[in-house]
Order: sequence, then C-alpha cells, then structure tokens
Amino acid sequence: MTLPDLDRICVVIGRTRHGMMLAELQEAVKQGARFIELRLDFLKKAPDFKRLLANKPCTLLATVRRPPDGGKWDQGEEARLMLLRQAIVAGFDWVDLETDIADRIPRFGPVRRIISYHNFREMPADLEKIHQRMCAQDGDVVKLVVRAQHPADNLRVLALIRNAPKPTVAFCIGEMGFPSRILQARYGAPFTYACFNKERNIAPGMPSFAEIRKIYHYEQIGPETRVFGVIGDPVGHSLSPLIHNTAFRQLGMDAVYLPFRVPRDLLNDFLNAFQELPVEGYSVTIPHKEEAARLARHHDETVERTKAANTLVRDDKEFLAYNTDYEGCIDTLKTFLPTFSKPTDAEGPPSVSPLDITSNLNLPAGALTTSRSAAGLNPAAITSAPGSSIVTAPTTSPSPEPVGNPISGRVALVLGAGGVARAVAFALQREGALVTVTNRTLQRAEALASEVGCRCVEWNARHNVLCDLVVNCTSVGMHPNVDESPLHHSFLKPGLVVFDTVYTPEKTLLIREAAERGCHLITGVELFIRQAALQFQHFTGKSAPIDLFRKIIRRALSPVQLREEQA
Ligand SMILES: NC(=O)c1ccc[n+]([C@@H]2O[C@H](COP(=O)([O-])OP(=O)(O)OC[C@H]3O[C@@H](n4cnc5c(N)ncnc54)[C@H](OP(=O)(O)O)[C@@H]3O)[C@@H](O)[C@H]2O)c1
Repeated sequence: MTLPDLDRICVVIGRTRHGMMLAELQEAVKQGARFIELRLDFLKKAPDFKRLLANKPCTLLATVRRPPDGGKWDQGEEARLMLLRQAIVAGFDWVDLETDIADRIPRFGPVRRIISYHNFREMPADLEKIHQRMCAQDGDVVKLVVRAQHPADNLRVLALIRNAPKPTVAFCIGEMGFPSRILQARYGAPFTYACFNKERNIAPGMPSFAEIRKIYHYEQIGPETRVFGVIGDPVGHSLSPLIHNTAFRQLGMDAVYLPFRVPRDLLNDFLNAFQELPVEGYSVTIPHKEEAARLARHHDETVERTKAANTLVRDDKEFLAYNTDYEGCIDTLKTFLPTFSKPTDAEGPPSVSPLDITSNLNLPAGALTTSRSAAGLNPAAITSAPGSSIVTAPTTSPSPEPVGNPISGRVALVLGAGGVARAVAFALQREGALVTVTNRTLQRAEALASEVGCRCVEWNARHNVLCDLVVNCTSVGMHPNVDESPLHHSFLKPGLVVFDTVYTPEKTLLIREAAERGCHLITGVELFIRQAALQFQHFTGKSAPIDLFRKIIRRALSPVQLREEQA
C-alpha cells in the first residue's frame, strides 16, 4: 500500500477548548502546516466532530492518548475506543491506534492508520521485536516513541526506520533524544512531529513547527545531508544550532547541525557510536572540553596550550581538535582594540606599565600574587605576609610581542578560572599581554596562573589590581542573574577596556555600568560569533557569514525572544 503524498511534518495541536483548537488549526495552516494531529485527549468536553471537521483545511489525524503513553485521557478505555471509532467515521483522514488496541478497531474506508507504541520510561530491550510485531499489524505507518537513556539510543531507534517493511516513524523523547527527531528525515521516515504551540508541553523535547522548519530546515534533510552538532550537558539552550544551520542555508549547503546532550563520562562512547552516521564535526561545550582535547588524535597549538577543545573535526575515523575560544578571543581583541582611543591622563589611569602593577598592587594581607619576572616585574617587589597563600612565581619567558599587535603590552585582569578563562588567559599571554588571573575559588586561579605563567590574586583583592583591560570570564551577570556584576562600579574608569564574555544578555550589568563610566566595551556576542565562525570554517572550509551571525544572535537574545522562551 503506498502512502498518499504526505507532508513531512505532522503538526500537533492539543488544547482544552474547541475554540482554541480550531484557532490554532487555522493559524498552523496559515503558517504552512499541511498535516495536523488533533489531540482529542486534551479537550475538556466531548469532541464535537462536526465543529472540528467543518471546512477541513488539510490532512487531519485523530489521536486520543492515555496517560501512560503521554496523553491526558481521563475516562475509561472502552469510551476511548468508542471515540476513536467515531473519529474514523466522522471524517478524519488518519487515526492513531496504539499497538495493543489496533486489532480491535477495524479499517474503515480510506482512513489511514498509524500503529503506535510509546514508552516514556525507558528504552525497551526488545525494541526491534516490538517493531517487527507492529509492522505485521494492519497499519499504514508504524510509530515508536521511547525514552533515550543513552545518547546511542538515538541510533538504535533510527536503525528501525531504514529497511523497515512498513514506513516507520521512530524517535526518542527528551533532550537526549532530540537528534533522532530530526535525523529521522535522513533515515527515510515518512514524517516527524512538531507542536504548533510549545507552551502546551505536548511531549518532552518536541520542537515547535517554527523551530523544526526555520532552524533545522527539516523538509530539506535527506540521506546525503551532512551532520554536525554541539555536544554538552545541558545543551538545550545553545544558540549554536541557530547560527550554524542558518549559515548552511545561506551558503546553500546540504547539512544540518544538532544539539547532542551527552552526560559527563559518556563522551568517548558517544563519539564512537555516532561515527556510524558519521557526524563530521562538533562544537564542544561544558562539561566536555577537556575530555575532548584528550580524546582527539591531533591537536592544534590552541588545544595544546589550553588542554581544552571546543571543536572536533572528523578526519577519517578520528578527530582533530581546536580551541576557537582561544582564537576567537585574539580575533575579537585585535578587531576592537585598535578602534579604541587611548585614554588621556585626565581621564584616568588605565594606561599601565607592568611596573605600575607592582607599585599599585596595594594588596591587603593575604591577597596574593604570582610574579612574572621575565616580564619586567621584580619578584622581590611583591610582598607577602607570613602565612599568606603565595602562588609560586612561574618563570616562563614572555612571548615574543609582535610589532603592531594591539594586545601586546596590555595589562589584563582575567576574572574566572573556568573553561573560557583558560582560553582567554592563554591567548592574552601568548599575544604578549601581562595577565593577572583572579577567581572565586583561589585554588583554580592558582592552578591556571601556574600553567599560563602569569600572576594571580585572590578574588576579594581583584579591585586592587591596576589594569587597562579586564575580561569577565565568570558566569556572573548571566541570565537569569542579570542584576549581578563581578566588579564594583568604582573599578570602572574611563578608557578601561571592559570585555564581558557573558552574552546572555549581551548588555550585562557590567557592560551597562562600564558604558556609563566611559569604558571601552566588548561584549560576549563578539566573542561568540567569532569562535562560531572559526568553527564553521574548520567544519566546512568556508568562511562564515559573520555579520549574519551577529544579527541572528542579537535577534535571538532580544528581551522579547527570551520572554517567549521562558513562557
Ligand atoms: N562569548 C562566548 O563565546 C562564550 C563562550 C563560552 C562561555 N561564555 C561565558 O563565559 C562564562 C563562563 O563559562 P565557562 O565555560 O568558563 O564556565 P565554567 O568553566 O563553569 O566557569 C565558571 C566560572 O565562573 C565563576 N563563577 C561562577 N559563579 C560565580 C560567582 N557567583 N562569583 C564569582 N565567580 C563565579 C567560577 O568560579 P569558581 O571556579 O569559583 O566556581 C568559574 O571561574 C559563561 O557563563 C558564559 O556566559 C561565553
């Protein structure tokens, strides 16, 4: 039996009132939906089929889901079966029948049948057998929905689709299962599901119709589509899919970029499992950057220095690792610093020489430093109170300072000692800046300073550091804690360069206060788009449309958009 010419996206509508269900139906059709599932189990009153099916605008599927299968039906099973029979006779084009009841409802006229299986708790051990049995039932499409317990479960469900004796829709629910919802298209599933209204929480991890079309371009995905993605945990709010997928479209590439939620300790298993596709390149985020650097066969210099990779590019059966946060930081500073005017003496003190640092340290007892003797500092000039936690002074030579390099000679304070701070501190030091690191947890600052070969001070002494460039690499000020700043505003003087790597929101409290006090500003969006552009280049060998990246990110971060996401 051949399938009618079906739309590749089935848009799901679940509302408690008929009026709202019909309003969403009309709106979905207006937005291009051609195949819509009405979740009758959501309706508070008995479905009025006459009303629902009057002027039917597109192919309609009727579903009445029980709670164990993720539905809201709260009446008896016999009443449910009756309702399904009525829906079939009333004029729906398709009906969804769970595998255990499908044989009790005979085929009627031209109405097509989906035979479905849902397991929201786990991945059943006998998934393949269940699928086989379902294919033998009287259905036009077989649908299996299970909960992914391991990232590789995505591949197990997708394997059902290829070579299935009946057209099969198979995917995992939840954030970990999201890739299977999209990759179904590559494996030949007749369609996937998307909700019209995300606020309705139809099923865990179900994307919206707008998202699946505008971000993932689902309808264009086929067997040859190249696959890329971001690995992290959590990963659901990453903006990387938005920008990379947009860039693929802009450049006319047949490629898709997906979020892969990979729990800590599963990176190696995940990479091996997804070689099957294969995934050609990954952006890597928390908590996998260091493990990614260890697992890659080959590193470039940026990874060797930072011992962290935020980019993996497949090379035959192995991966090459890069750290584009490092490269992006240098690129951002080299773009912006030459555009900033030097402060005049009257404006304040930010133009600092390395020696000024020692004379202006003015540290409270216990606030401690590491010195960089080769950079012109005299270690003896740095005092330490007895019992204070002195960080041993590394004696690495300063990097050569390229002529005309705007970073060289800068006196930089790096706030934080996490992933981004690592990249930023190494990059600044490499480019000839004199770096001081500070962090809430002193031990981490000490460890980073010792690796980089720079100074460190205790967190509560950070306001005593004289610098002409400060880079916030902590998460302070990040959404939802937008009323926090890692620095007291009195620290912010005219002419000081303030680079906040936080980009959600772009205008952090630190950036706003720095603007008010006449500082030069660099926002996290500038770093984000540059590190992403470098990744894109590593992935594809093509230049990324960076202005488009900036536009997309700013739009995605606009307060209106953020409010919609939280709703
Ligand atoms: N623009 C970009 O492209 C880009 C890319 C990645 C990240 N970022 C930004 O950088 C931030 C850090 O990311 P990451 O990957 O480095 O994260 P991470 O490895 O988890 O490091 C977080 C850092 O923030 C510090 N911190 C957290 N809460 C703090 C608080 N209340 N007070 C003082 N310090 C605090 C932590 O200090 P402890 O060591 O004491 O915990 C640590 O140094 C993110 O929030 C993000 O906004 C930007």
